Amino acid sequence: MSERGPVRGGKGLLRGRFSGEVHPALDRINRSLPVDVRLWREDVDGSVAHAEMLGARGILSKAAARRIVAGLRRVRRELESGTFVAKPGDEDVHMAVERRLTELVGPDGGRLHTARSRNDQVATDVWLYLGRASARAAARVRDVQRALVRLARRDGDAILPAYTHLQRGQPVLLGHHLLAYVEMLARDHDRLLTVTIGRPCPLGSGACTGVSYPIDRRRTARALGGPATEPSANSLDAVSSRDTLTEWVYAAAQAAVTLSRLGEDLVLWTTREFGFARLGDAVSTGSSIMPQKRNPDGAELLRAKCARVTGDLVTLLGLQKGLPLGYNKDLQEDKAALFDAEDQLSAMLDVARAMLEDVRFDRARMRAAVTEASGYLLATEAADWLAKRGVPFREAHRAVGALVRAAEERHVALEALPLDVFRAAHPCFDRTVYRALTPEAAVAARTAVGGTAPENVERELARWEAHLDVRRRPARGH
Ligand code: ARG
Repeated sequence: MSERGPVRGGKGLLRGRFSGEVHPALDRINRSLPVDVRLWREDVDGSVAHAEMLGARGILSKAAARRIVAGLRRVRRELESGTFVAKPGDEDVHMAVERRLTELVGPDGGRLHTARSRNDQVATDVWLYLGRASARAAARVRDVQRALVRLARRDGDAILPAYTHLQRGQPVLLGHHLLAYVEMLARDHDRLLTVTIGRPCPLGSGACTGVSYPIDRRRTARALGGPATEPSANSLDAVSSRDTLTEWVYAAAQAAVTLSRLGEDLVLWTTREFGFARLGDAVSTGSSIMPQKRNPDGAELLRAKCARVTGDLVTLLGLQKGLPLGYNKDLQEDKAALFDAEDQLSAMLDVARAMLEDVRFDRARMRAAVTEASGYLLATEAADWLAKRGVPFREAHRAVGALVRAAEERHVALEALPLDVFRAAHPCFDRTVYRALTPEAAVAARTAVGGTAPENVERELARWEAHLDVRRRPARGH
């Protein structure tokens, strides 16, 4: 087809007031079909609901409405089976569906757009799509949570350092660390699932000021089974607002942030320096030059894709900022950002799950990182030991600081210092302090709600297993 060929851009359905066809440059930037074809299910559903309502209200004859609905069902079958052929004049999914409908049913096809505009049509398509996309994304988040819960059941009793400022802080159970992500993902799940709930249906808002036909907006809203059964209250708002879409992408971006942090933990843990974890072959990558390499590309891409989804969110906010009220074509660009966010998030969730299903932990390396003499991860325990015996915590903190300095000078762990050094640091110390200075005692002591005590972690793990319907396997994985 030549650049300026007769059908390029087409003397399309909308060019009645123009002479000649659209300039190819405008056609290229204006054509959204390659992106918004993804809305075809919602577009057909919306049109069926609209046509049935037009027939029921006598705005179209019952026979015409029936023919339109039958034609739309054929269009749907063509789209489903992949036999739908787009034509050069199909500017977007709405025009493509209507053009094909008209080919199939004749002039009645041209009646479908009565009492409707592409502006409320696209808003309705997206409204429907977001609800469905929420369910899809939320289900994938659940799968990642389940993978984390299974790991927590298998290796949750391993002890590793908990970090602040990426410096070793205190001993923690691996189960506690993994369940932290389960909690974060639970909020991500809920956010994704609920973001659209209650948002009213825009269909029937027309181009900008509503429609002048006796339409039944409640009927179409209810028929569509979207996020709410109420029609939107203000037509200008309905056709020009994209805040729900933006919130959806924010929910995706926040989930992506969670996954990027999980990715970073996996990147760190699989280094020689940490050595806490090893990813299976299927979820590791090689180097083109260094034969020994075992790279965590999947985990790194969790960080990278997060940047992309965050970018989609910024795109959407930028797109809307300063738009005069009413529909503006800028808004067509919203779907590219939405679909990209959805696709990237779904790829991220899938790879996170795959990595979590194929990771081995080095429990000995984790424990060694806790007990390494120079780490002093039990210093808080010594301070708490004093404070629990009536010493003001600040005084205890200072005394144990001196103790750490003494241990550092001797190149030994805190618990390796003789009692007289403890006593020199603070006279309250007696030999029972040594009982508090083990990783096991440190985690066992943290029984307050939300702490890493084994019974807490077990309780939380059991709660998540029940909530996520994770079946417990009889034996430990390895
Ligand atoms: N493809 C358009 C979009 O995505 C549909 C609405 C077009 N409306 C218009 N007045 N040109 O926003």
